[in-house]
Amino acid sequence: MKTILIANPKGGSGKTTLATNLAGYLASKGGRVLLVDLDRQRSASDWLGRRPEFLPTIRGWNSQLDKKSMGEAKPDWLVVDSPAGMHGDKLTNALKRAGQVIVPVQPSAFDMEATRNFLEELRAQKSVRKEKIEVAMIGMRVDARTRAAADLSSFLDEVGFPVLTLLRDAQIYVQAAGEGLSLFDMAPSRIVREMEQWQPLLDWLDA
Ligand SMILES: Nc1ncnc2c1ncn2[C@@H]1O[C@H](COP(=O)(O)OP(=O)(O)OP(=O)(O)O)[C@@H](O)[C@H]1O
Ligand SMILES: [Mg+2]
Repeated sequence: MKTILIANPKGGSGKTTLATNLAGYLASKGGRVLLVDLDRQRSASDWLGRRPEFLPTIRGWNSQLDKKSMGEAKPDWLVVDSPAGMHGDKLTNALKRAGQVIVPVQPSAFDMEATRNFLEELRAQKSVRKEKIEVAMIGMRVDARTRAAADLSSFLDEVGFPVLTLLRDAQIYVQAAGEGLSLFDMAPSRIVREMEQWQPLLDWLDA
């Protein structure tokens, strides 16, 4: 079983969007996927609730359920969506299970500042220092034509963790979220540009 934690304490950085799409990708490849929702807002669980039944199965877990039930489905993958503001013991706990951590960050000064602080906190964790956990960054809602995108790219150059990809700001993410879909449940012709951007992330996961 592999566990991927999606984390950034900055609210709205794109955690749930990444978690639901990653879960959709892994399920589309035939993996048994458990989407673990650590957020009391339950956005990932609500997304699962909207998911049409005929699509590849993704199971859900949230804190109302018994921890033991997590392993019952014998998942190949745990994709963990974490809440805004996750610091301290809660972060340490969430990291216990993780093999990989993905940190989404948006091109804005507020987001980058908050993320810089979070990365310091991550770097101070023993499991990260000892390289038991891989940490990687993803730029989220990036419009390559903007000054903000250039600022994000300088920021990402300095953070010291690998940058997997930059995902553009696109309505297809919003539509998919509303319909309980991931990009990987949509017609390939609709996601051509998205797939180009996702490919390095998928290669990293498959490696
Ligand atoms: N690449 C994108 N293009 C367009 N909209 C996006 C993209 N990524 C995320 N969004 C939108 O941005 C908003 C915030 O994203 P999301 O809910 O994934 O963030 P979050 O980090 O989970 O937030 P929270 O901290 O509240 O849990 C959502 O409305 C989502 O649909
Ligand atoms: Mg969320």
